[in-house]
Amino acid sequence: MTNTIHSSADGAIDQASEVLNQGGLVAVPTETVYGLAARSDIDNAVERIFTVKGRPSGHPLILHVAHADDVARYVDSIPHPAKILADHCWPGPLTLLLKKSNNVSHIVTGGRETVAIRVPANASTRLIIEKCGHAIAAPSANKFGRVSPTTAQHVEADLGSEIELIIDDGDCSIGVESTIIDLSSDRPQLLRPGGFPLEDLEAILGSSIDPPAGESRASGMLASHYAPRGSVVLAESIDQANDLLQQTPRSRILDHYANLPMYAASLYSQMRQADNDGIAVIIAVLPPQTGLGRAIGDRLNKASLA
Ligand code: TXA
Ligand code: MG
Repeated sequence: MTNTIHSSADGAIDQASEVLNQGGLVAVPTETVYGLAARSDIDNAVERIFTVKGRPSGHPLILHVAHADDVARYVDSIPHPAKILADHCWPGPLTLLLKKSNNVSHIVTGGRETVAIRVPANASTRLIIEKCGHAIAAPSANKFGRVSPTTAQHVEADLGSEIELIIDDGDCSIGVESTIIDLSSDRPQLLRPGGFPLEDLEAILGSSIDPPAGESRASGMLASHYAPRGSVVLAESIDQANDLLQQTPRSRILDHYANLPMYAASLYSQMRQADNDGIAVIIAVLPPQTGLGRAIGDRLNKASLA
């Protein structure tokens, strides 16, 4: 059985960093979703992340560091836009894709010369990383292709028997994964919409960010992902959703569609709850494609294709 301890329990931070330093796997809270962490310089621990998640090895992992200053160790250089975004957005739900340094193994990056890196906003997780003295690699702590976990109980349900420790810090405040921006080539490009609104990043940079294009580079960009077991049907409005609800047996409409932060924060737990309640069809009202609505819409579209 997995050991779940609360982040504020005596010795929780020490225990988590010891497990990581010995090459174990620890599920850690972040402001977006829970991550499945290994020390990024311990190859067989990182390899185990792929095994436990059932994730193909070509799908690279995000490095998490405790402070923006620590990024320098893992990247080849920090271009000016990366410096600006790091100063304004970290700690927070933003991941930057940069050229990697020799301190990052190809197991973490799926053989690429770029590395995805962020400073998470959860204080306990930053303390754990600081104690390790090394970046952790952490994908979302769910089975590949399924719904990300936003509580320690979600992690327990998905991976409980397969990992050493879960650090419980309650509900994730944002509830959808970080925004990923590629700064490894000439123009900034959005790879995955997420918890940091695109408009805000463009305002900070004072320039536009290109939309995702070309072949899928992030696994979150696969057509089908983030899927519950029930099917997901999209509605353009609450009226349309209500019509669908009348016509569809064992269906349910997701709550909070009119409040974007609450919609994001509850999205994955509502999908899991619907599965647990035996709901066959989850009806989701598509939010406007601005702010957090972009990330919510992206996850709902992918879930609907599963
Ligand atoms: O909010 C988050 O980002 C959460 C928490 C735990 O930090 N993590 C997360 O990780 O969502 P994961 O592994 O579920 O998604 C990471 C995404 C994947 O789509 C992966 O393909 C992409 O980041 N990625 C990582 N490194 C990359 C690289 N070098 N090039 C392109 N995409 C990369
Ligand atoms: Mg994931």
